[in-house]
Amino acid sequence: MLSESSAAVVTATLPAVQAHGEAITGRFYQRMFDAHPELLDIFNRGNQATGAQKAALAAAVVAYAEHLTGGSDAPWGPILDRIAHKHASLGITPAQYTIVGRHLLAAVGEVLGDAVTPEVAAAWDEVYWLLACELVAREARLYLGAGLDEGGSVWRDWRVTGRVAEALDVVSFTLVPADGGPVPTFVPGQYASVAVDLDGGRGQQIRQYSLSGRPGADHWRITVKRVRGVDGAPDGMVSTFLHEHVAEGDVLRLSPPFGEVCAVAGEGPLLLVSAGIGLTPAMAALEHLAATEPQRPVVLVHADRAGAAHAFRGELPRLHAALPNLRTALWYEDVTDAEVAGLTAEVAGGRVDPALIPLSPDAHVHLCGPLPFMNVVRGGLLRRGVPAERIAYEVFGPGMLRDDRA
Ligand SMILES: Cc1cc2nc3c(=O)[nH]c(=O)nc-3n(C[C@H](O)[C@H](O)[C@H](O)COP(=O)(O)OP(=O)(O)OC[C@H]3O[C@@H](n4cnc5c(N)ncnc54)[C@H](O)[C@@H]3O)c2cc1C
Ligand code: HEM
Repeated sequence: MLSESSAAVVTATLPAVQAHGEAITGRFYQRMFDAHPELLDIFNRGNQATGAQKAALAAAVVAYAEHLTGGSDAPWGPILDRIAHKHASLGITPAQYTIVGRHLLAAVGEVLGDAVTPEVAAAWDEVYWLLACELVAREARLYLGAGLDEGGSVWRDWRVTGRVAEALDVVSFTLVPADGGPVPTFVPGQYASVAVDLDGGRGQQIRQYSLSGRPGADHWRITVKRVRGVDGAPDGMVSTFLHEHVAEGDVLRLSPPFGEVCAVAGEGPLLLVSAGIGLTPAMAALEHLAATEPQRPVVLVHADRAGAAHAFRGELPRLHAALPNLRTALWYEDVTDAEVAGLTAEVAGGRVDPALIPLSPDAHVHLCGPLPFMNVVRGGLLRRGVPAERIAYEVFGPGMLRDDRA
């Protein structure tokens, strides 16, 4: 709970902080990286360049202040869970909250200037630390759940045992722990962070990759789409590195599995909707159900640019044989190579029309794909009567869907 005096100050200054949120978080990152260049290795430089991370941080702090001052009744648990899982996968430590807090509050002062009286500074300090404590507590539970000792590193070496081209610009890597120890299981929908040392002395970068194989198998699988720069933007750092430099026998550093989104939630009919590389959590879900609940009714809706870009389509006949109640509906923007050998899948041209998605009234839904795609599909499903709490979704970047943002 925020103290009464701070609540009044935060309510009064919230509009100014909100209006300058991204200027504040932008300044915060500059300050923090100047003072702690070592942190550049844990932050995603792509998100720094595009501004995605400063927007996500500003939105989170403002939304939390609104939540504390009663200005919003949006549920907080899911947002905290998302951040905590992401942080845990990066090995964020309680001590780092002191660094972030110092520079974030100093950035508020720099951007808002004289408006930041000692009372205003104290009130926002209180907001920051209430939020930090909630996150630290959640992260401590996640580290414990992952079997990590207090202060222990999240990173473990994994050896690449195979590399398979799945589609145009998409490769899968299979991995086993390099120490020969047990392979942790995971919930379909969870991801691992992968840390790589970029070539040319460019330092370390970390990205998340959904585990795309069967939970409980004797290895993990990740599936990586190579991100090519468009309109003068550079190629993706880590995906390009993995595609160009990582082969069977190499060693990668991976975190334990984290991620709050379960791709097989609930009971009864399941609807998996994906686009492009967003198919990876759905693949873990299908492999899991084939092994544990083969009779469950499942609809897989997948959108892709064309058949050649559609990863795992060669696995669909096997999955249909293992899951007799699986129905697949594909949408290809270019349908010239729509044939899927040995599979009676429904293939349509163009973009997914949510009104045409085969839908059971009691289905649980999992979505994964680019944000605009998920906004359209989720909006359509909500209009068709699916309650919001039955629609889970994974964003392959910082942030939430439009309706869930503060
Ligand atoms: C939970 C989760 C699960 C995920 N699962 C998967 C998965 O299963 N498979 C998968 O392939 N990916 C997955 N991702 C995405 C993955 O983590 C990476 O974001 C992706 O591989 C791109 O990383 P990169 O380093 O190649 O690109 P980055 O270097 O991070 O670049 C990202 C984008 O920013 C642009 N950019 C970078 N610098 C600039 C600049 N200076 N100016 C303008 N634009 C710039 C790049 O052009 C590119 O479009 C997942 C992400 C999350 C959060
Ligand atoms: C109260 C304090 C903090 C808040 C509110 C916060 C908020 C966030 C949010 C909203 C995200 C994006 C989550 C997502 O949607 O994927 C994120 C990611 C991240 N956070 Fe934090 N964070 C805090 C503290 C910290 C600390 C102490 C560190 C460590 C120095 C840290 C490092 C990171 C990193 C590395 C990411 C990954 C995203 C990227 O690099 O682009 N955060 N945080």
